[in-house]
Amino acid sequence: METEMLVLARQDVEQKGFLDLDLDPTLDLFSEIERLKKEKNAILLAHYYQEPDIQDVADYIGDSLGLAQQAEKTDADMIVFAGVHFMAETAKILNPTKRVVIPDLKAGCSLSDSCPPPLFKKFKDQHPDHVVVSYINCSAGIKALSDVICTSSNAKFIVESFPKDQPIIFAPDKNLGGYINRTTGRNMLLWNGACMVHEIFSLEKITRLKVRHPNAKLIAHPECEEPILRIADYIGSTTGLLKFTKSDSSNEYIVATETGILHQMMKANPEKTFIPAPPDNSCACNDCPHMKRNTLEKLYLCMKYETPEITMEEDLRQRAKKPIERMLEISAKAGL
Ligand code: 13P
Ligand code: SF4
Repeated sequence: METEMLVLARQDVEQKGFLDLDLDPTLDLFSEIERLKKEKNAILLAHYYQEPDIQDVADYIGDSLGLAQQAEKTDADMIVFAGVHFMAETAKILNPTKRVVIPDLKAGCSLSDSCPPPLFKKFKDQHPDHVVVSYINCSAGIKALSDVICTSSNAKFIVESFPKDQPIIFAPDKNLGGYINRTTGRNMLLWNGACMVHEIFSLEKITRLKVRHPNAKLIAHPECEEPILRIADYIGSTTGLLKFTKSDSSNEYIVATETGILHQMMKANPEKTFIPAPPDNSCACNDCPHMKRNTLEKLYLCMKYETPEITMEEDLRQRAKKPIERMLEISAKAGL
């Protein structure tokens, strides 16, 4: 229920920003977040790349497909999205009447940024016989220009839902697109985008690490570049990688994706060893700077003041919704 006090407090916070607020350091943020969830009938959805504290307080942790499916079926009044902007935006597209908040509105995505809608529209217009399959890591503007959306866990099914001779544009991730081309035998036209985190891994250092840890399996996200994927023992979405570590009999893994997922891997397999895949240079790390903009403090504040909120023009939302719904239908039919 919107009280006048909440509206005024929110306006004040929106003007000054969270940084100017004096947050009592003795506050137990975990129990405060639990209290706010009940008080506001809110659901807290978090991606695996969030910091461990946020993962521990979430109602649901998942990959992009799981998060979209949860967002679609929730009956909560408020969706608190601990992830990046395109994820919260997807939740809003599916839930126009609910308030969708995100701890930091600036939590973006380099992959999504690599595909600006006006440029992509020109590219698409040059290939009028192609259908467009877009990876969910893109803006609502790109989704609105797409025929169907996919995630890393359903991309193969989505692409294979089209006849073999159907020309396809795949955007924005050239690495995931290339991987799907190789596994399906298609020749999709790829937009030249990539994720800054998954492009950072060093083939040479991983090879050296494998020599030192001969029993370790390399598990990689399909956003990684082809040379890394070529030597990987298993390739999958974040949920796929986590499931693999639970069902596989090895005791050691080199993990080529963002480090946030290691928290769940270690929780599920306390007896196993997980080594983050080494990046190209020694001052870079495989933390996503966008995902890591969200903190437990900002999460608490965004729930308390119900801001920053995701908003969108209705016409854009309607156009972006169709390809997401198509993805959810195909995924449900495939049992994903
Ligand atoms: P998934 O969790 O769907 O595998 O996606 C990874 C990612 O890069 C999210 O930004
Ligand atoms: Fe985007 Fe890469 Fe960060 Fe995922 S890990 S949010 S794809 S920049």
